[in-house]
Amino acid sequence: APTSRVSLTVNGTLRTVTVDNRTSLLDLLREHLGLTGSKKGCDAGACGACTVLVDGQRHNACLTLAVRLEGAEVTTIEGLADGDRLHPLQQAFIDEDAFQCGYCTPGQIMSGVACIQEGHTGSPEEIREWMSGNICRCGCYVKIVRAVEKTGG
Ligand code: FES
Repeated sequence: APTSRVSLTVNGTLRTVTVDNRTSLLDLLREHLGLTGSKKGCDAGACGACTVLVDGQRHNACLTLAVRLEGAEVTTIEGLADGDRLHPLQQAFIDEDAFQCGYCTPGQIMSGVACIQEGHTGSPEEIREWMSGNICRCGCYVKIVRAVEKTGG
């Protein structure tokens, strides 16, 4: 299959990889770069487990073709903490007990970061609406919304 070389910045580090042209950003992160924090739930844009930021905007990494990202800046869950210091939303997820199995948590947190950055934390309803593409099968929604609200408020 045809391949391409793509250079992109991931969590502040420039990475150059050669990938099959059909490779998703999610597979590039997980299989080529070993960054397995972004999860593969549905691989079809329906669950939000793979959510990352591309140039500051929220994206489903499973729907994003890696070869389209030449020069892009990608932030994943691995890039949120500052050394040993967690991002405030990561800390809030712990404080609010906002996860059970944890599988959706990286995507929830990346979506929540975008929610806060884009100013959609005006009310629990607004947060719920913004986060509605992130599915939690354990049903932690009330606590997830509270963590985002507490961090963004
Ligand atoms: Fe990308 Fe489900 S794995 S939305």
